[in-house]
Amino acid sequence: MKAIALTEFGDAEVMSLQELPDPLLGPDQVLVEVRAAGVNPVDYKIRAGHLRGLMPHHTPLIPGWDVSGVVRAVGIGVVDWKPGDEVLAYARKDHVQFGTYAELVSLPDRMVARKPSTVDFVTAAALPLAGLTALQALKVTGTGPGDVVLVHAAAGGVGHLQVQIARELGASRVLGTASPRNHEFVRSLGAEPVAYGDALVDAVAEAVGGDGLVDVVVDNVGGLAFDQSLRLVRERQRMTSIVDGPRALENGVVNTWARPNAEQTQWLVDLVAAGKLHVEVQQTFPLAEAVKAHKLLEGGHVRGKIVLTV
Ligand SMILES: NC(=O)c1ccc[n+]([C@@H]2O[C@H](COP(=O)([O-])OP(=O)(O)OC[C@H]3O[C@@H](n4cnc5c(N)ncnc54)[C@H](OP(=O)(O)O)[C@@H]3O)[C@@H](O)[C@H]2O)c1
Repeated sequence: MKAIALTEFGDAEVMSLQELPDPLLGPDQVLVEVRAAGVNPVDYKIRAGHLRGLMPHHTPLIPGWDVSGVVRAVGIGVVDWKPGDEVLAYARKDHVQFGTYAELVSLPDRMVARKPSTVDFVTAAALPLAGLTALQALKVTGTGPGDVVLVHAAAGGVGHLQVQIARELGASRVLGTASPRNHEFVRSLGAEPVAYGDALVDAVAEAVGGDGLVDVVVDNVGGLAFDQSLRLVRERQRMTSIVDGPRALENGVVNTWARPNAEQTQWLVDLVAAGKLHVEVQQTFPLAEAVKAHKLLEGGHVRGKIVLTV
C-alpha cells in the first residue's frame, strides 16, 4: 500500500509517500480502506518527536489518528462489522506506528463507529479526535443546563465543535475566544466571540456581568490563556486544559487527554447527520501532500479542520 511515513523525527519534510507492506489484521481488528484522514496538531507533534517520552514509537512511522473509510476485511473475532461497512474512528493505539495517512489501516473494532450515509467521508474524518476531545473535556467539567462556558480557540479544530456541543449539553451561554477575523464564524456556531490577548479577562467579565466569572472553562491554548482562565473560573474543578497537563495538575485544574470511544464517536456523528453539529473543513489535500497540510496546520490559525483525501 501507499502511505505517508517517516523514519526520522523532524520538520514536515521528514514525511514522504512510500510503498509499505499492507497492515496485518488482528483477531479483534477491522481492516479499513482509508477514504480520508483528519490532520491534528498531535500528528505534527509526533512527527517532531515530542511524544516519544509518552508512548512507544516505531519506524517507519505512519502518522494519523483520525480516519474514515470502508471496511475491507474483519478479524476472526469480529462480529459487529463486515466488508463494505462505512466507518470512522479516533484510532489512537498504544504504540505509535501504523497510523491513518495510508491507503489501508487496521484498527481495534472497539474504536469504530458507523458512518451515516448522509455524512461524507471528509467530514467524518475531521470529526473523531477533535469531537471526542471537545466532548470529553466538557464532560469532566460537568457542563450542563444553565452553565456559562468559556471555550478558548473557538475557531479551531477542537473549539469550533466544543462551542456547539456545549450548547447541545444545555449551556445557557458560550463565550469563545478567537481573532477578530473569526468572530462572525464563532457567532454562527452559537457562541459570543471575544478577542484573545491581554484584555481578555476584562472583556469576559464585562460580557458576563455580575461577579465577572464563568462556570466552566476549557483551555485549548495554554500559556496566557491558562493564567487568565484561573482568574475567570468560579471553581477550579470546573476548568480543564487539553494542552498543559502538568500545570493543570499543579493548579487544581482537571487535565483532559482524549480517549478513543466508539459510543461517543457514534453520538457525535449522529449529531452531524441530524444537522445539529457542523464540522468546518478549511481545506483538503491529497494524501501525497501531507507535508503541505502539516505546514498549514502548524501555522496555528486554521479555521476548523484540515483533511487528507486518499
Ligand atoms: N489533550 C488532548 O487530548 C488534545 C486533543 C486535541 C488537541 N489537543 C491540543 O489542543 C490544542 C488545540 O487543538 P486544535 O486541534 O483545536 O488546534 P488548531 O485547530 O490548530 O487550532 C487553531 C485555532 O487556534 C486559534 N488560536 C491560535 N492562537 C490562539 C490564542 N492565543 N487564543 C485563542 N485562540 C487561538 C486560531 O484562531 P485564530 O486564527 O482566530 O487566532 C485557530 O482557529 C493543540 O495544542 C492540540 O495538540 C489536545
